Amino acid sequence: MEVKIKPTYEEMSRAAAQEVAHLLNTKPNAVLGMATGSTPLGLYQELVRLHREEGLDFSQVTTFNLDEYVGLAPSHSQSYHYFMHENFFQHVNMPKQNIYIPSGNTGNYPAFCNWYERRIEECGGIDIQILGIGSDGHVAFNEPGSSLTSRTRLKTLAKQTIDDNARFFDKPEDVPIYAITMGVGTILEASELLLLANGENKAWAVGAAIEGPVTGMVTASALQMHPNAKVYLDDPAAAQLKMREYYDWIEEHRPGAPQYY
Ligand code: GLP
Repeated sequence: MEVKIKPTYEEMSRAAAQEVAHLLNTKPNAVLGMATGSTPLGLYQELVRLHREEGLDFSQVTTFNLDEYVGLAPSHSQSYHYFMHENFFQHVNMPKQNIYIPSGNTGNYPAFCNWYERRIEECGGIDIQILGIGSDGHVAFNEPGSSLTSRTRLKTLAKQTIDDNARFFDKPEDVPIYAITMGVGTILEASELLLLANGENKAWAVGAAIEGPVTGMVTASALQMHPNAKVYLDDPAAAQLKMREYYDWIEEHRPGAPQYY
């Protein structure tokens, strides 16, 4: 796991966007795994800026989103469909037919989930999966206790997640209780993982994910099992890392390291 700690949210977002831009410049028909939440907003803004000002091209890109609330129409202001359209898709040249987001309104969830998994495979798999982290250490909506080999499925949200997300809804009881989410196993199949976290309310989850034991109780800890996982943090999110000095030392010496891959 590569841990890259930046002084600010803006620098964290720009550095993570460079990873995505580098992929698109070398593989214009890349498959991106997209995340929602407040964390990746800065990354999306930077990608939009790179598109507008530097011609970063999304015309051959395919995207798969991690998750969606069950029961919200795509036009609902808190649905992840709406979030992605508002904050990213409408600002870049992504062909509509290349955008995949789990449906929160299907009549048959198991069939939909199987189809979603198959589509990812048929498109050649995900090149870079963008990830945030919940304050309890979850990735996507893989709540504590999820199997680390889980696939796309319907999930009941944890109380902590519902409480965390209540700020986006008019009333706490409006927060959906169920979600459809890629599984941890699905996520681990991406060629590269890019986890972002900012703010001190993520410090515990970040410490547990990076330095704690690999456990289904903190599903982000499964990133430790991935051969190419990068974690971008701002300073406050890194506050509980015991090996902070070593991570900074590695980054400082990276330019001089022998090229072995
Ligand atoms: C939700 C999403 C996750 C996201 C998390 C953190 O649970 N399903 O994908 O990482 O929220 O959101 P935020 O970035 O707003 O803190």
